[in-house]
Amino acid sequence: MSNNNIKINKCLFPAAGYGTRFLPATKAIPKEMLPVLTKPLLQYGVEEAIEAGMDTMAIVTGRGKRAIEDHFDRSYELEHQIDGTSKENLMHEIRNIVDNYTFSYTRQVEMKGLGHAILTGQTLIGNEPFAVILADDLCDNEGESVLSQMTKLYEKYPDSCIVAIEEIPREHTNKYGVISGIEIEDNLFKVDNMIEKPEPQDAPSNLAIIGRYILIPEIFDVIKTTKPGKGGEIQITDALLTLAKQGKVLAYKFSGKRFDCGSVDGFVEATNYFYNKQK
Ligand code: UTP
Repeated sequence: MSNNNIKINKCLFPAAGYGTRFLPATKAIPKEMLPVLTKPLLQYGVEEAIEAGMDTMAIVTGRGKRAIEDHFDRSYELEHQIDGTSKENLMHEIRNIVDNYTFSYTRQVEMKGLGHAILTGQTLIGNEPFAVILADDLCDNEGESVLSQMTKLYEKYPDSCIVAIEEIPREHTNKYGVISGIEIEDNLFKVDNMIEKPEPQDAPSNLAIIGRYILIPEIFDVIKTTKPGKGGEIQITDALLTLAKQGKVLAYKFSGKRFDCGSVDGFVEATNYFYNKQK
């Protein structure tokens, strides 16, 4: 069935995970609110979605994540304090976001994995194609953002899911979902296999999925029938494999940089990169 609803308006942000690699920082502060320089990771993600033409941000939160809702809201007392001072401009970007875009939230009650978090977001998405950003994968590109590159591709392939991939060293395959497929265009693969966190000797390639997806609404029904996989969690990679077997998953080797801000090394690297860039 052809999907006529090509424009993607909604971006889903699964942000319910515990962020255990950042304890104790993430004991009371959501990982997605950790700042690279002065901006929380999630705000970078929201700005990327806006740049890609989306107007609705659907956020899956969990216990202890209330700071996310407060960030994407007005803060009258603070704004009143700094209005007319030299600090006013520090709030321009976030104020513009809050005033012009829609934010909706739902809670994942049990952290049963990324696939389950995405299914939890169904109530905010409905029956339309949507984007997913994992805010702890921070992307930057001199030209078009990674998500913009992907939405353009989706216009050409509106019946497929698209996952962003990058080449990684073989010894790191057990940290990612890994795909194999046939290159049908420059940097675009039709996926025939995907495995969540394979050991290097079992990995079908060194092409790893990173935290940017375009998903068709069919994915929700598939997740509902997907059994817990690696780590006992419901994995989006396993659900996507079902669609890949029907020829409905593409993997796109994007242009740009990606920092794994879910790890301390990646977070420090991103901080140095953005610091040097703004100097
Ligand atoms: P990660 O596995 O990187 O996040 O999930 P985590 O579990 O928070 O981190 P660690 O490994 O304990 O340090 C990738 C993304 O999926 C979300 C996370 O919030 C993160 O953005 N996620 C993961 C959920 O929303 N729910 C889940 O059940 C699992």
